[in-house]
Amino acid sequence: MDANRIKLADKVAIVTGAGMGMGQATARLLAARGAKVVVSDIDGAAANATVSTIRESGGTAEAVIANVADEAEVEALVAKTVDLFGRLDCAVNNAAIAPDLLPIAEADMAVWDRVISVDLRGVMLCMKHEIAQMMAQGQGGSVVNIGSVSSVRPQAGNSAYVAAKHGVIGLTKTGSVEYAPHNIRVNAVLPGAIDTPMLRAAMDDVNVTEAEFAPVLSLFGRFGRPEEVAEASAWLCSDAASYVTGHALAVDAGYTTR
Ligand SMILES: NC(=O)c1ccc[n+]([C@@H]2O[C@H](COP(=O)([O-])OP(=O)(O)OC[C@H]3O[C@@H](n4cnc5c(N)ncnc54)[C@H](O)[C@@H]3O)[C@@H](O)[C@H]2O)c1
Repeated sequence: MDANRIKLADKVAIVTGAGMGMGQATARLLAARGAKVVVSDIDGAAANATVSTIRESGGTAEAVIANVADEAEVEALVAKTVDLFGRLDCAVNNAAIAPDLLPIAEADMAVWDRVISVDLRGVMLCMKHEIAQMMAQGQGGSVVNIGSVSSVRPQAGNSAYVAAKHGVIGLTKTGSVEYAPHNIRVNAVLPGAIDTPMLRAAMDDVNVTEAEFAPVLSLFGRFGRPEEVAEASAWLCSDAASYVTGHALAVDAGYTTR
């Protein structure tokens, strides 16, 4: 066994939504494993803060502001990555928003459109431009799309998010079939209840505490840490996962086994 296969030395990675939460933890872990990381977020101050923490730990990172729902910005993100680091080997498409909760018959279609544009179209746009760059390089690559347990389970009042996250699995499987002949692997990670600003905001919306919520969402009875999801993405990015494509890996403390 070559232990270096799990390392990411000499790989160039993009992480979207890397200004906070799981994206930040993922960018930090990829950099700690040796990748040169483009920390991308719609929030430039948040992206810069992540870059600072990576550099303080001796890692290599640059911030690039991009709204994943905007094709020109996503295209520019990939182009800037190549300008900065010469290539693109792996990408973690993590940026998403969580919507206001409303049942379908009362849905606000402006909210629906916003969620679909970031959480589904955003993943599609990132895949489109990342894979085009990997194809141009001709040396394979790895794309990791961040779904959710909502990729495989319904959630009352959350139709746009659930539809978008189910769609992320469809995009992942389609991309894996289209690009396997070029050794570009496309996988998804499905986080459960992970302690991030997104989860805390959702809990505030429905006014529940961690003590009430965690046992319902986790067989371990606790929220996950962003770093525990980052481990799955880092492995899928690495050569250690060389025979894995089209897979959706739940990191959910067994929530979806019930
Ligand atoms: N936290 C959870 O419990 C949980 C559970 C399942 C899935 N997820 C998924 O994990 C991923 C990360 O979630 P999180 O909890 O870390 O979220 P978060 O809200 O804590 O962080 C999301 C980041 O994405 C950025 N972002 C938002 N819209 C963007 C856009 N249009 N373009 C670029 N960046 C944008 C934000 O600025 C922020 O930095 C998301 O895909 C989310 O759906 C989270």
